Amino acid sequence: MFNKEVYIDRRNRLKKELKSGIALFPGNVEASFNYPDNTYHFRQDSYFLYFFGLDHPGFAGVIDVDNDKEYIFGNDVDIEDIIWMGVQPKVVDRAAEAGISNTAPMNDLAVFLSNAIQAGQKIHFLPTYRGETVIQLSALLNKSNDEIKSGSSVELIKGVVTLKEVKDKYEIAEIDKAVDIAYLMHTTSMKMAMPGMVEQEIAGTIEGISLALGGPVSFPIILSMDGQTLHNHYHGNVLAEGRMMVTDAGAETQLHYASDITRTVPVGGKFNARQAEIYQIVLDTNEKAIEAIKPGVPYRDIHFLAARVIIDGLKQAGLMKGDTEAAVAAGAHTLFMPHGLGHMMGMDVHDMEGLGEDYVGYDESVSRSGQFGTAYLRLAKALKPGFVLTVEPGIYFIPALIDKFRDEGKFTDFINYGKVETYKNFGGIRIEDDVLVTADGHRVLGKPIPKTIAEVEQTMYEPREWIKKEGFI
Ligand code: GLY
Repeated sequence: MFNKEVYIDRRNRLKKELKSGIALFPGNVEASFNYPDNTYHFRQDSYFLYFFGLDHPGFAGVIDVDNDKEYIFGNDVDIEDIIWMGVQPKVVDRAAEAGISNTAPMNDLAVFLSNAIQAGQKIHFLPTYRGETVIQLSALLNKSNDEIKSGSSVELIKGVVTLKEVKDKYEIAEIDKAVDIAYLMHTTSMKMAMPGMVEQEIAGTIEGISLALGGPVSFPIILSMDGQTLHNHYHGNVLAEGRMMVTDAGAETQLHYASDITRTVPVGGKFNARQAEIYQIVLDTNEKAIEAIKPGVPYRDIHFLAARVIIDGLKQAGLMKGDTEAAVAAGAHTLFMPHGLGHMMGMDVHDMEGLGEDYVGYDESVSRSGQFGTAYLRLAKALKPGFVLTVEPGIYFIPALIDKFRDEGKFTDFINYGKVETYKNFGGIRIEDDVLVTADGHRVLGKPIPKTIAEVEQTMYEPREWIKKEGFI
């Protein structure tokens, strides 16, 4: 964990945001995989981690704003636990690492909260995402599961977003580390993308890199020749020359900060002319969008800038036509990029998404579009120094969407459907980087991962002869 002063400062700032009441942060408990004692690798709740830093199951943190006090509730281990888990620090010692001196057994939490409610204090809690937490809060606060699901505190959500959306230097250093791990994951994926390899062999290898260098992957790996399916978790294809492979993958560091990177490469290591043409459009879009990042600029504007670059490129390629601005306004580009340009990233890969995307990515100055595709834009509001976000433009040829739009007669002023038909077996291309908004611009985080056509081909060329010799291709 970070130095205790980091957590003390965060809690103090949250008290100022919240002004009154009690903020209750239930930490996570172990979650069973296929029978009770066989659990998933433990993942602490990101908000509990942010304010208390303790990466162990079975704790709850309380910030009593009215009385300016903070507590950790949790149980010391007994001899049975020590036999299986080894000697563990006492709760009081763990709490001290977070700068907290008030501790109590978990069983005392219900009485503590009940007394607070009787004294007229409001209990603030965040939206839940695990059934166990709903049940725990329901018992603690004497409310139904439905009341817990709908009863989270908007004041607490807004306070947490205000703090957590601006990353401090310790967090930025962690995200740099997470991208450095992703560098190894992605360059390995590139080097392995040779004909005859099964996607799973590559996905499994790069997941191992994440585990070996930090923690688990920050989200289930997307790795497929069928990159037109945006979140493709099927890894059973045998790679074939002439196709491209999308790898969308990131790592969690030991302190649980994420990376989220996408690269698309030609199977076998050499782009053909058609692949290179579309790839270059996506690369131009990625680079122009990154160039535009600076404080004060609404990310929605950068999303639409990306849409213009895509449309101009596809016009050059003969796949689109007409006036670019009119095509953007109509949403014609969403045939090719039916998603948003990016999202906040931090301790969660879609940072704080569970609190409600609109609280995180939108504010009173910008509201969510109802337009197909653009409605998926997760971050639209003006950028601030300290934001960390993804820039992930893509061009996809999704046969079902092409058929649907063509059959509905949509965007006939802007789409050359005849030519688009000939790309139905093309797949998709996405190029994604993680970017910090700085005081006067931006910085792409981590070690630069090969991205230009020349860099990708060079990276893929190196192992080709070796892989051939070993008999993989
Ligand atoms: N890169 C995966 C996602 O953003 O959902």
